[in-house]
Amino acid sequence: MSYLTIYPETSATPKNEYSDFSEIQKALAQHGVVFERWKATEQVSAEATPEEVTRAYQADIDRFKAERGFMTHDVVSIHPGVENHPEMRQKFLQEHTHSEDEARFFVDGSGMFYIHHVGKIFKILCEKGDFLNVPAGTKHWFDMGNKPFFKAIRLFNNPEGWIASFTGDSIADRFPKYEQS
Ligand SMILES: [Fe+2]
Repeated sequence: MSYLTIYPETSATPKNEYSDFSEIQKALAQHGVVFERWKATEQVSAEATPEEVTRAYQADIDRFKAERGFMTHDVVSIHPGVENHPEMRQKFLQEHTHSEDEARFFVDGSGMFYIHHVGKIFKILCEKGDFLNVPAGTKHWFDMGNKPFFKAIRLFNNPEGWIASFTGDSIADRFPKYEQS
């Protein structure tokens, strides 16, 4: 089940924990972070093509694109059989920002987002059905875990422009990683 854990930035001892959807949504909305649950309008199998995945969530994709000015989207799939998954995990495990929003919908599987904002760390476990939008310029990192498994829809303003700008802060190393085992 999805959850939100809030830590002070100085300590890995949790200050608040939420597992209720509307409480998570409310706590994140105060900081401009959008958290939603999207429902498929048709059955999506594990083997569904990106086109089939898109079709099942078309209304929400179109709505959010219009709300935030996103231009494109894609569907990304990661599983433990992907050869370079440890390197992929490392890639976004250090604190960074982007010049555009980071919008992710979890069609399947899970991943852990960490948002560093107003002196706090917001650790959010996103699971199947969850949508998260991290505003442009917000410091964050992402852990796909030691056994990465997810299929996600990613929205972009401009795929070429989606570059991580690393802060150089090692803060991510001081908070619990996502370990699925
Ligand atoms: Fe990111």
